Amino acid sequence: SMQREPIGVIGTGYVGLVTAAGFAELGSDVYCIDIDADKIARLERGEIPIYEPGLEEMVSRNRERLHFSTDIGTALDKARLLFVAVGTPPTYSGDADLSAVNAVVAAMPASDRHALVMKSTVPVGTGRNIKRVFVEQGKDGFRYVSCPEFLKEGTAVGDFLHPDRVVVGDDGDWAGDAVVDLYRPLLSAEHGGEEAGELVRTDIASAEMVKLASNAFLATKISFINEIANVCEETGADVIEVAKGMGLDDRIGPKFLQAGVGFGGSCFPKDVNALKQLAGNSGYHFQLLNAVIEVNELQKRRVMGKLEKHLGSLIGKRIALLGLAFKPNTDDMREATSLVLSARLQAAGAHISVYDPIAEEEARKLIQGVRFADSALDAVTGADAVVLVTEWQEFRDLDWAQVAEAMAGTTLVDGRNALDPGLVRDAGLTYEGIGRGTA
Ligand code: UDX
Repeated sequence: SMQREPIGVIGTGYVGLVTAAGFAELGSDVYCIDIDADKIARLERGEIPIYEPGLEEMVSRNRERLHFSTDIGTALDKARLLFVAVGTPPTYSGDADLSAVNAVVAAMPASDRHALVMKSTVPVGTGRNIKRVFVEQGKDGFRYVSCPEFLKEGTAVGDFLHPDRVVVGDDGDWAGDAVVDLYRPLLSAEHGGEEAGELVRTDIASAEMVKLASNAFLATKISFINEIANVCEETGADVIEVAKGMGLDDRIGPKFLQAGVGFGGSCFPKDVNALKQLAGNSGYHFQLLNAVIEVNELQKRRVMGKLEKHLGSLIGKRIALLGLAFKPNTDDMREATSLVLSARLQAAGAHISVYDPIAEEEARKLIQGVRFADSALDAVTGADAVVLVTEWQEFRDLDWAQVAEAMAGTTLVDGRNALDPGLVRDAGLTYEGIGRGTA
């Protein structure tokens, strides 16, 4: 087959590893760089530091094309395109912390055969700033491409291979062309058939904005349906029926209309805040985004009111949380609703037991004072109330009669509307969903 362009990937976190393994799968040699020597050593041994279905297999399938090193020089020697996938965590102000990105920029030599390809989510204007730095430092031959990432945790391998769209923002030079060529197999109809993605080739600032605006819009959709759910509770409507009726309008679409205990994760809370800050820094007050954030914070805490409705005071009550990760099929605890809930419930005097099939190890670093149970059944044993926080399949499949038998009380709060209320009630439990007025 045709020789594929070798690439460098700087940062072997979640986005970096999936991108590296994905391009290796398409046939490129990939030089993965990280400053964390321990991580690089583990990757060399084939250990994958994150839980992501299918990633370990994709890495091992392409082992001979994946090269791991702490030395950025290796990537510069072997590749023209250096994908940047380092963290841009939020600072206290909500602005993105660009120190890792800036360190990569500073480490680049003067060169007219290299380009940085930004995968990390950065504020709009970052590309322009980096190009300015390159000029100031006499590295103006260095090219820059914005190529934002839309992977979802838990389905990242499939998302890489079957993107809805690939966004490439550049100055119309060789580097943008080369990035498009790399993605070509995922864009052409013969590779993916109906699943092939669309290419959006545009300027750098617009590409940067596509990422932030997409995540902010999806977060807005979730906060919107959560508010509809809250009104459903007051009016006797069932948000599941409402969302179905809304989603069939193809201008609205059925996705991201699941009401629940709020959104979490490494992207939505961060990116909504980052876009709000970005707007604010340029003098524009982005009113909608304030509400999206506030609704989400209130939504996480509404579970407290639901528990009090059934249990009265929570002092001394035993409450089991099923699921800790911010969503199923990941061990990621960042901005997970379980963090807020476990802390609030303990502050209200409740005793908490928790269970998550995968995220326990991560959760133990962040949650204190709770009992980590060995199974869902262990967690619910003796509980006055159970809250389903993350909709893992194994919780959907629970034997509710067995759960009811093990519990001390009967209250079940389905924080993700993931269960069949009829089944749960038949088991003798009191079902309380989110926005299910009459269900
Ligand atoms: C998101 C974006 O989807 C992805 O394109 C981007 O690259 C990174 O951020 P991710 O954080 O992995 O991906 O999770 P996602 O599946 O989008 O869910 C985010 C949060 O929203 C989760 O906490 C989830 O439980 C919640 N959610 C999602 C809802 O509460 N309701 C919904 O209808 C959908």
